[in-house]
Amino acid sequence: MPKNLIAIYPGSFDPITFGHLDIIERSCQMVEMLTVAVLKNPNKTPLFTVQERIAQITAATKHIHNLKVDSFTGLTVEYAQQQGAKILIRGLRAVSDFEMELQMAHTNKTLNHTIETIFLATSNEHSFLSSSVVKAIAEFGGQVDHLVPAEIAEALRSRLSPQN
Ligand code: PNS
Repeated sequence: MPKNLIAIYPGSFDPITFGHLDIIERSCQMVEMLTVAVLKNPNKTPLFTVQERIAQITAATKHIHNLKVDSFTGLTVEYAQQQGAKILIRGLRAVSDFEMELQMAHTNKTLNHTIETIFLATSNEHSFLSSSVVKAIAEFGGQVDHLVPAEIAEALRSRLSPQN
């Protein structure tokens, strides 16, 4: 892949997990600049605000230099176009992801045929991992330190503890 590519990694990242971070690190080795773009989605009630998620992602990726963290509203392809990005990165964990991801890639292609989606296969050890799984464990007081960065595990504990 030519190194001068600008790419967007869009998502909810509520919160970012080691699975996302693996995709980010591997993408950053392939592109010139990657923007991790948090969708401001009015149809979802997130656990963490967009500002909190941006801060979490920024802290977890401070060792990566060709990376920006941002938020966006509206269509991903429009945001990508504004950023001069030609590539959307998405991770694929299992066949179950594939149908939805392929539909999204096809939809995005009809909206802007100049923007390509590139899928990266999630590393084996993260194939079960999602933000929802992390929240489901944390909600019942389970350990999530092996799934998310330490600060996020702590934030989950305080946000989801029974007193709150
Ligand atoms: O982390 P997620 O929730 O799986 O990310 C989904 C996301 C943000 C990539 C997707 O919902 C999206 O691109 N939303 C923006 C609206 C859009 O562009 N829709 C057209 C493609 S289906």
